[in-house]
Amino acid sequence: MTNAQQDQAPRRQLVAGNWKMHGNAALLRNIISNLLDKEDLPEQVDVLLLPPFPYLSLAAELIGDQRLLLGAQNLSEHEQGAYTGEVSADMLSETGCGYVLVGHSERRELYAESDALVAEKFVIAQRAGLRPILCMGETAEQHERELTEVIIARQLQAVIDRAGIGAFATAVLAYEPVWAIGTGKSASPEQAQQVHAFIRQTIADVDARIAGQIQILYGGSVKPDNAADLFVQTDIDGGLIGGAALHADQFMEICNAG
Ligand code: PGA
Repeated sequence: MTNAQQDQAPRRQLVAGNWKMHGNAALLRNIISNLLDKEDLPEQVDVLLLPPFPYLSLAAELIGDQRLLLGAQNLSEHEQGAYTGEVSADMLSETGCGYVLVGHSERRELYAESDALVAEKFVIAQRAGLRPILCMGETAEQHERELTEVIIARQLQAVIDRAGIGAFATAVLAYEPVWAIGTGKSASPEQAQQVHAFIRQTIADVDARIAGQIQILYGGSVKPDNAADLFVQTDIDGGLIGGAALHADQFMEICNAG
């Protein structure tokens, strides 16, 4: 147990389904009706859906005032203006989103998003009342060179420097080792716990209260058969689910493992 965890109320679990650029309206309807049908979602688990932009309005409508949460996978770092093809934080907020991913490794790698850009997106999301989910993780090569903590510390520090530690009171963190995303090769619960404890301690070094309350999700090949072992770890507060979130039954099982 890290210093940050003493005397803290238990954190709720958050299970988020990141669809990436997959799926369609029929899948959205199927997943939402499946989740809403079942009354046995554990009380301590919040479920967050992150469908592609075009389905956000439909998702908001289908969710209505039910217990599911809605968020987006990306946003512009600009508030508004002539940025063809971009989507602003205010637009997401108006559409019913409460959360948004920033710094997903696919954005960092495929769209060359720097730590500084990720920090801007984090700040602009919060300005519109969205909770940013800051994703961090090391590549396979960095993992082999035992640079995990160096990389995570750098990615985290860039946002702390820009937004201030107080901003983390309304943010979520996600540890997603790049080598585990979409590969079927999840980090072991012990490996993941070790990195999560490091992340929490890094926050605790600046603000113990925020460290104790912030949710840190694990992502990277979470499936029904490994979710419970991951989620039970002291510093793992749920998951960011990619592939398995596209199957209503698997996603439901993972939510129930929280
Ligand atoms: P995965 O993706 O579950 O398919 O590994 C996780 C993510 O990219 O968020």
